[in-house]
Amino acid sequence: MALGPTDLSSAKERFAAALTLAPELAEVERIITAAFSSDVRLMREIPGYLLNLGGKRIRPVLALLTGKALGLITPPPRLLDIAAGIELIHMATLLHDDIVDRSPIRRHKPSPLAKYGINATLLSGDFLLTRAFGLCARLDSTIINATEQACIELVEGEALETSLHEETHTLSTSLTIAKRKTASLFRLSAFCAAHVAQVPQEVVSQVCSFGEELGVAFQIIDDILDVTSDEATLGKRAGLDIIERKPSVVNVLWLESGDPQAKRLTTPPPEDQSAENEYVADSLAHLRVGPVIQKAREMAVTRAETARESLITALSKMDSQRSTSDEARSAGQALEAVIDFAIDRAL
Ligand code: FPP
Ligand code: MG
Repeated sequence: MALGPTDLSSAKERFAAALTLAPELAEVERIITAAFSSDVRLMREIPGYLLNLGGKRIRPVLALLTGKALGLITPPPRLLDIAAGIELIHMATLLHDDIVDRSPIRRHKPSPLAKYGINATLLSGDFLLTRAFGLCARLDSTIINATEQACIELVEGEALETSLHEETHTLSTSLTIAKRKTASLFRLSAFCAAHVAQVPQEVVSQVCSFGEELGVAFQIIDDILDVTSDEATLGKRAGLDIIERKPSVVNVLWLESGDPQAKRLTTPPPEDQSAENEYVADSLAHLRVGPVIQKAREMAVTRAETARESLITALSKMDSQRSTSDEARSAGQALEAVIDFAIDRAL
């Protein structure tokens, strides 16, 4: 299938077409579901509930398509295990993140936290993380070390994400948080595919940069959507990053702009709920038409373009070493469609 960047179809359509190039996703989904097996009902039920809430499975897609673009047209079973393991880790982080954020809603439905309570949600996250390591332990030490490193970064990123009323954040700390809490698993997905494909080190480095830059762009876009989108699209209330005083890229850019209205982000939400609701509504209206969102978009686009350059460099280095098949070329174009889709969500 031709998926050229010159295609006139929308990024969403090109992303859907990209998914058709990775039919192994169905097998990855089966491995994920098999990992929910337990004779304790809640350990089966909570992961199943979270999985059924949906999601783009972007990390497994990245692992499979990167593998294909690097010549693994039929991904070996261990790459499918890796793709499944990374999604299991991601699911564990969502379960734990909802506890940290006290989120009542995820993807339009009651969050696992709201439905099953804190103890069962915490334990089901532990369960999934352990299952992921079970899959990972069968793999070679390079994959095990990279996975450990990504998980450490994830936890550190989440720990660094203190509220703006607790600690001063700068654009640099905000981007560090995005890199650690979100880009770590994107990078891991791309890295593992390159490692399994046994490509030269210079290609591995470019592929890692591709995954990391895409992950940071993805998080910046999430931060933008928190302001520009609505509940029907987001599947949760808009403006949560303002309510939670999060050091999101948008909130930090707003504070650094010197706008007096942003200053309130550095104080805890007041007891008076109606005053807070008014502040959030005013802030959203103000931010949606102001320059802060535009600046955040520019930053996301720059990161996405760096991701694209790294991807193209990696694939051209491969091209110069061995002749690239049509399937590998299509997978490379499908990865560009993933980049476009990540950015397009907020244009
Ligand atoms: C979503 O952030 C959260 C993350 C991307 C990372 C969360 C990481 C942890 C909770 C550490 C636990 C780590 C392991 C390995 C279990 P968000 O709140 O901005 O996004 P959301 O809207 O999806 O909640
Ligand atoms: Mg959250």
